[in-house]
Amino acid sequence: MNLARDAQKAGARVGLTSDRIVIEGGKPLRGRIEVRGAKNLATKAMVAALLGDSPSLLQNVPEISDVHVVTRMLDAYGVAVTSPAEGELLLDPSNVLKAHFAQIDALAGSSRIPILFCGPLLHRLGEALIPDLGGCRIGDRPIDFHMDALRAFGAIVDKSYEGIRITAPNGLKGAHIELPYPSVGATEQVLLTAVRAEGVTELKNAAIEPEIMDLIAILQKMGAIITVEPNRTIFIEGVDHLEGYTHRAIFDRNEAASWASLALATDGDIFVGGAAQQELMTFLNIFRKAGGGFDVQEDGIRFFRAGELKPVVVETDVHPGFMTDWQQPLIVALTQADGVSVVRETVYENRFGFTDALVEMGADIVVHKDGYDSPTWRVPRRPLEQVAVITGPSKLHGADVNVPDLRGGFSYLIAALTAQGRSSITNVGIISRGYERFVEKLDALGADFALVD
Ligand code: EPZ
Repeated sequence: MNLARDAQKAGARVGLTSDRIVIEGGKPLRGRIEVRGAKNLATKAMVAALLGDSPSLLQNVPEISDVHVVTRMLDAYGVAVTSPAEGELLLDPSNVLKAHFAQIDALAGSSRIPILFCGPLLHRLGEALIPDLGGCRIGDRPIDFHMDALRAFGAIVDKSYEGIRITAPNGLKGAHIELPYPSVGATEQVLLTAVRAEGVTELKNAAIEPEIMDLIAILQKMGAIITVEPNRTIFIEGVDHLEGYTHRAIFDRNEAASWASLALATDGDIFVGGAAQQELMTFLNIFRKAGGGFDVQEDGIRFFRAGELKPVVVETDVHPGFMTDWQQPLIVALTQADGVSVVRETVYENRFGFTDALVEMGADIVVHKDGYDSPTWRVPRRPLEQVAVITGPSKLHGADVNVPDLRGGFSYLIAALTAQGRSSITNVGIISRGYERFVEKLDALGADFALVD
């Protein structure tokens, strides 16, 4: 089965028959759902397969449109992507070839993943053409760390009206790179380039998210030699060739935290199969402080409200801090807490835009754009920090809202399910970029809704 063709048919709205959902809110959601592989690992693992001299098998792959986009991109470069079993991808890079730029350009608009093709394509083809990137509009999303890293390996970066053309006429040599900020994408860029570069690469101030560690595990399986030091420094010893891997993707922490926030907001009780405690420790602490309860079991975690919801003060950070991707769903639950919560976003410039619609639904949320300091908080890391002050409890009422980005979109589902009355949410296709079969899962949890053309 050629997945690229099927990905084309599936289009951006994986599993969705329409782009609008009408929800009747106000009741607790209860039941069990399953969470599979992480969007922010599976897509990178697919790119890593390009580096192998033999096919790779990725397991626990979620049915999300970001995976379909990368499938189509790999197909454009001649990588055969098939599915030997449900949730599995077999990626065969034997016939990698130059892609037509137009094909890649058509795909890049909805994702940031194309930027990670640079290193593997430079190793395989000697050049990479990167069009303008997509991804959630939650900030500027620059790629300067990526370009500086590639130049450090000896690549030549030419910006053109089409996008960016990268070549490496003298090959790629190991480099000493220090990231200005522990960027997830830039760390992945360095890993995917350094593993086949000549010599040793030292990467300082690297991101160490669990998804990064899972990608390192994949590269090690392929034959890479990667050492992670305790101080965010990673050493990569370049090797001559890499083989394909077999790997079961780590579960999606962001999806698990989103369903947990839904249980908290609606006073529900949701068992999230596939979730594991280790990778969610920081989230679980905040969840408990906010009045949530959780029960860790062998095959997942049960999330529920343990009593009155309580306000919290939380600051997003890189791992092992509170992930920026967790704040949007949690904020909806905090609108129901009795008191004043403060969420400080330190990773993205504009990740509170989604709160405007929550205010329309009756929430009391004030966003301080110019930052908000407190002597008890650490020295501000970035001038772009912002703070959302949430005062509750607020009675949310239904409204017509439009999905602005992936996590904001799921937050609107939570808000509509928490509100009394009817809500209409449009542009829900964005949610299927990162939430596998979310409509089926809402149904399994007893939500009252209808997909509307
Ligand atoms: C990844 O984005 C995730 N996306 C994001 O998840 C996640 O929020 C983010 O990491 C942080 O954990 C994927 O993995 C596909 P960064 P990424 O590079 O790699 C700035 C979701 O909802 N920066 O760590 O793009 C950047 O603007 C998505 O699943 C530069 O300035 O994040 C941001 O302020 C949203 N220059 C900060 O660093 C660069 O060259 C962190 O970005 C690169 C990044």
